[in-house]
Amino acid sequence: MCGIVGYIGGQQVNDILLTGLQRLEYRGYDSAGIAIVAEGQLKVHKQKGKVSDLVATLESNGQLQGTLGIGHTRWATHGFPNDENAHPHTNVTGSFALVHNGIIENYGALRQKLKQKGYTFKSETDTEALVHLIDDVQKATSLPLEEAVRQALTQVVGTYGIAVVSVEDPDLLIAARMGSPLILGVGEGEYFIASDAAPLVEHTRQVVYLNDGELVVLRRSGFEVRTIDNVKLEKQITELEWDLEEIEKSGYEHFMLKEIMEQPESLENCMRGRLRLEENCINLGGLIEVMDDLRAAERVIICACGTSWHAALVGEYLIEKFARIPVEVEYASEFRYRNPILREGDVVLVISQSGETADTLAAVREAKQQGILTLGVVNTVGSTIARETDAGVYLHAGPEIGVASTKAFTAQVLVLTMIALKLAENRTLTDAEMAEALRAVSQIPDKVRKLLELDKELCNIAHSYRFANNFLYLGRGFNFPVALEGALKLKEISYIHAEGYPAAEMKHGPIALIDRFMPVVFIAMKDRTYDKVVSNIEEVAARQGSVIAITDEGNGELDKLCEYVIRIPHTEEFLSPLLTVVPLQLLSYHVAVMRGCNVDQPRNLAKSVTVE
Ligand code: M6R
Repeated sequence: MCGIVGYIGGQQVNDILLTGLQRLEYRGYDSAGIAIVAEGQLKVHKQKGKVSDLVATLESNGQLQGTLGIGHTRWATHGFPNDENAHPHTNVTGSFALVHNGIIENYGALRQKLKQKGYTFKSETDTEALVHLIDDVQKATSLPLEEAVRQALTQVVGTYGIAVVSVEDPDLLIAARMGSPLILGVGEGEYFIASDAAPLVEHTRQVVYLNDGELVVLRRSGFEVRTIDNVKLEKQITELEWDLEEIEKSGYEHFMLKEIMEQPESLENCMRGRLRLEENCINLGGLIEVMDDLRAAERVIICACGTSWHAALVGEYLIEKFARIPVEVEYASEFRYRNPILREGDVVLVISQSGETADTLAAVREAKQQGILTLGVVNTVGSTIARETDAGVYLHAGPEIGVASTKAFTAQVLVLTMIALKLAENRTLTDAEMAEALRAVSQIPDKVRKLLELDKELCNIAHSYRFANNFLYLGRGFNFPVALEGALKLKEISYIHAEGYPAAEMKHGPIALIDRFMPVVFIAMKDRTYDKVVSNIEEVAARQGSVIAITDEGNGELDKLCEYVIRIPHTEEFLSPLLTVVPLQLLSYHVAVMRGCNVDQPRNLAKSVTVE
């Protein structure tokens, strides 16, 4: 949700900001702007549209010169995506500019109070209230800007990641966070500030993660971090693990396709050092200290949103199967607001690619407040959820830039598989069974590699269905969550209405939708439920529904019932989501491309949902 970038140093800032915004654009892309301080002036340019539109305008107007500046790419919360509501916002005299990610919840009251004091508002944003509030504090107190910002923030209710620059002090960049991520990049006589690491990697690997309630004052000579309550802090500099190549398209047309194709490697990275075939065990370093508590858990509650929630559903099947511990899966957004009943012996496990999803983070905080052990399955190293959970397992899937989550899903399912098997060690599985399970897990990357060869076939299938208005996805058992995920992938990037259901539920309602215009994707792997799923396929075929089935290599039984049959390598039932989801990702991708949709930046969406 919105991307922020800022720079203070010796280099020309224009390109640093624009490239940084391009790297952050997956966080929001309805308008963009920059503010640069130079030669006694604060120059602001902002406009509706993509960062590329801003770049084009600046190129034709002439670049803004200067070595201090801030930038913003917006995902609208308050106010239309238009030029006025785009960030940065300036105070009345135009002496300082501010960019903001988050929501100022008491902006209505602040706005009213400030209007009474004579402030006029140019935009409909909540952010402008903060700008005028800072101005008001500064006028009333004559304090330096950094102190006025700090004091103003004590009056704010809500979430923010902000950056501020002023024409009155060309050696000052101020940033602060509460609920919206901010990372400080440390260079030689230069500093960067950004919503995530993407804009930093090409400049520095030294980073400082800001925590909620912290404000940083950056000057070319150094930086100082304080709490909003004005307590000075010593912060640790850590090394960033990302590579530049990981956040570039590397020849692919879209990040989503690149990330789908990367899955054999991301899965290998995820299991590296963890899957110990020779020792016949799983090694999850991040859980060692809590493993006894986890093994003794009475109940595991998994909280997540979106695709991560679908992975959580697979996790429920896995943990219950292997560890025989009851699991409940919750939407993080529901969990946090219903005063959940948590008991001693419960463990709350959260799943998040970004590690910044506001609702998932709130679930962690709710559980911690009740004294419950919290575990994180997170991709982004150093993210807030990774830091706030008691323990956890990183995905090591590499940065995921496409808004539609793909490689993170398979890595999440793999981590959950490893957690479930770890819990089964010396308990529910014999040594021979464990060896068999580990061997099957180790073969998954190669099987994904093989099934990615089906890309052309899926492209052809997509061509047949590109004008469909609806889609139904059906699966059972481990593949029911995959049906949900397939439907989500299609709807979020192609804007085709799609629903996922447990196949057997079809008869309880969705069957009414079936006619010759309704494509139905069945996941029909040769497992315990296969025969039942085939009966469901018969039922759809009898009503002229157009069936696309995913089944095992060598299975010809479905050909007469289906329009298309996608045959994929066979694996154990509990591992099949790692394979069955991949053709669904490719199908969605190709349908969306053929419909002319912006695959990496679907309308209305943002990669990291840091507001409620
Ligand atoms: O970063 P997170 O995993 O916490 O994000 C959760 C959802 O916002 C995310 O999975 C979303 O549903 C994706 N757009 C799905 O492709």
